[in-house]
Amino acid sequence: MTDLLDLLRRDAPRFRRIAVLTGAGMSAESGIPTFRGTGGFWRDYDPQWLFSPEALAEEPVLIWTFYDELRTRIATAAPNAGHVALAALAAHREVRIATQNIDGLHGRAGSTGVHELHGTLWTLRCPECGAVLRPDVVFYSEALPADAWHAAATAMTACDLVLVVGTSGVVYPAAALPALAVRSGAVVAEINPDATALTPQMHAVLRASAAEALPEIAALLAGP
Ligand code: APR
Repeated sequence: MTDLLDLLRRDAPRFRRIAVLTGAGMSAESGIPTFRGTGGFWRDYDPQWLFSPEALAEEPVLIWTFYDELRTRIATAAPNAGHVALAALAAHREVRIATQNIDGLHGRAGSTGVHELHGTLWTLRCPECGAVLRPDVVFYSEALPADAWHAAATAMTACDLVLVVGTSGVVYPAAALPALAVRSGAVVAEINPDATALTPQMHAVLRASAAEALPEIAALLAGP
């Protein structure tokens, strides 16, 4: 497996259009817990249950408490060096970000045109008249917002390089995006301290954290 930094030292000028797929690991160094792996989630509740329409229907007070605490935690967190590096890279390359995160940290770091595949914590929506007002996030088993999905798929099929950052790659359809890019001829690289379900599809990997790796990657891509 090629080392991503070696690849970029050699070939950075040929990567003009960068698509990025991010997951919970992207925000881990901002103090936001990931879903799987060490660190745990909220009061030991199963995230698959917390993010489900059934949980909202069965335990609305508990679920609203959960979202309130999550919003407070994220509002007091800051984008990390990885978010900032991706935002800065847009001055040198075309950068499109598809994120599974609902925290809004890419936008707060200054990235524009971020496709929020799993919705956002920062707006609310009424699913239908008379129903409990709910966060504008995608619960398990629900369809992704069509515009975010189409924009993300387009980004993946019209780029030279995909950076897959901090996702375990087990939640579909987001996890299918790197394969679309591979089929379109892009180079696909993973940035994650650990191997994931997507590793076998990768052309290159960098076993490092998002906040460590992305500033270095952006610096290599910021040249001519
Ligand atoms: N930098 C980069 N990657 C990291 C870091 C870090 N600092 N810390 C952890 N990781 C990696 C882990 O090794 C793991 O592969 O981030 C990944 C986190 O995986 P998950 O917790 O499964 O997060 P994600 O892939 O985003 O989950 C997908 O599942 O429940 C849902 O809807 C929710 O959007 C979420 C989806």
